[in-house]
Amino acid sequence: MSATILDGAAVAAAIRERVAGEVRELAGRGVSPRLEVILVGDDPASRVYVGAKGKACAQVGIRSGTHNLAAGAGAAELASLIARLNADPDVDGILLQMPLPKPLDGRAFLDLIDPAKDVDGFHPTNVGLLHQGRPAFVPCTPAGILELLDRAGVALTGARAVVLGRSEIVGKPMAALLLARHATVTVCHTRTADLPAVCREADVLVAAAGRAALVTAAFVKPGAVVVDVGVNRVEDAALVARLYPGDTERAAGLAKRGYTLVGDVDFNAVARVAGAITPVPGGVGPLTIAGLLQNTVTAARRRRGL
Ligand code: GUN
Repeated sequence: MSATILDGAAVAAAIRERVAGEVRELAGRGVSPRLEVILVGDDPASRVYVGAKGKACAQVGIRSGTHNLAAGAGAAELASLIARLNADPDVDGILLQMPLPKPLDGRAFLDLIDPAKDVDGFHPTNVGLLHQGRPAFVPCTPAGILELLDRAGVALTGARAVVLGRSEIVGKPMAALLLARHATVTVCHTRTADLPAVCREADVLVAAAGRAALVTAAFVKPGAVVVDVGVNRVEDAALVARLYPGDTERAAGLAKRGYTLVGDVDFNAVARVAGAITPVPGGVGPLTIAGLLQNTVTAARRRRGL
C-alpha cells in the first residue's frame, strides 16, 4: 500500500473540540444551542443514527431532544410537529431523519422546515444559496469532507474533481462546494458511459454512488486523492474475503453481525494506486455528525445575529 490514510475520525474530533469551544463561548452570552431531531417509524439504522446524534450533542454541550413518531404517523401530525418546532424560539436546529416510511414524501416535509433552523442544509432556500456560492447551511457530509481535504493540504484550485454520485445529500452539494473552491468539477453516476475513464481524470475523486467496491484501481489516476462516502452493508462472505484477504477482524465482524460495512471503493486495490484515501469505517462517517454539531451552533448564533 502506498496511499496516505486520511483520518476522518481525527478531523471529526478536532471539529467537535472547536464546536465545544463555541458552545462555551455562547454560554457566556446566555445562549445554549438546542437541536430537535424527528424520527418517524422504527428503521433500525435510523434509530442508531439518531441515538448517535443525541449522544454527540451531549458531548459538546448542545441540548437535544428526539421526537419519535409512529411509522403510521399521518402527514398532518408530522407537519404540525415541524410547525411547532419552527415557532419555538428556543429551538435552533431541526433535523428530520431520512428516509421517511411510505407513503410520506421526505422532500415535502423537508420543505416545511424553517430555513434558519435547517441544520441539514436540505431546504431549497439553503440548496439555492449553496449553488449561488453564498452558502448558509451546508449539508453535513460534504462540509466535513471539505474540511478533511483542507486539513490534509489537498489543493483544490484548478484541480480536476470528479464526484461519483448525484444525491441531494452528498453528490450535488459536494460538487457545488468543490466548484466554489475553483476545482473543475465533473459529476458522474452509475449510468455514465465509460465510468472508469471519467473517474480516472480526477485529481480528487469523491465516491458517493452507494455501490459496494464499485471503484477499482482502474478508476483511479496514480496519486489521486480518493474520498469514500459509501457505507454499504455486505453479507456475502466470498466478496468480503476477496476484498479483504487475510483481514481476520473483518471476517470476525461479518460472522458476528451478519454483515460488514464496505465503502464504494475497493480499498486495498485502490490504496496501491492512490496518493491518499479515506478508509471505511473511520473516514467520512464520523465527519457527518461533526458537521451537524457545527451547523447547530452556527444556527444558534445566526438566529440571534451573533
Ligand atoms: N439519513 C441519512 N443521512 C442523513 C442526514 O445526513 N440527515 C438526515 N436528516 N437524514 C439522513
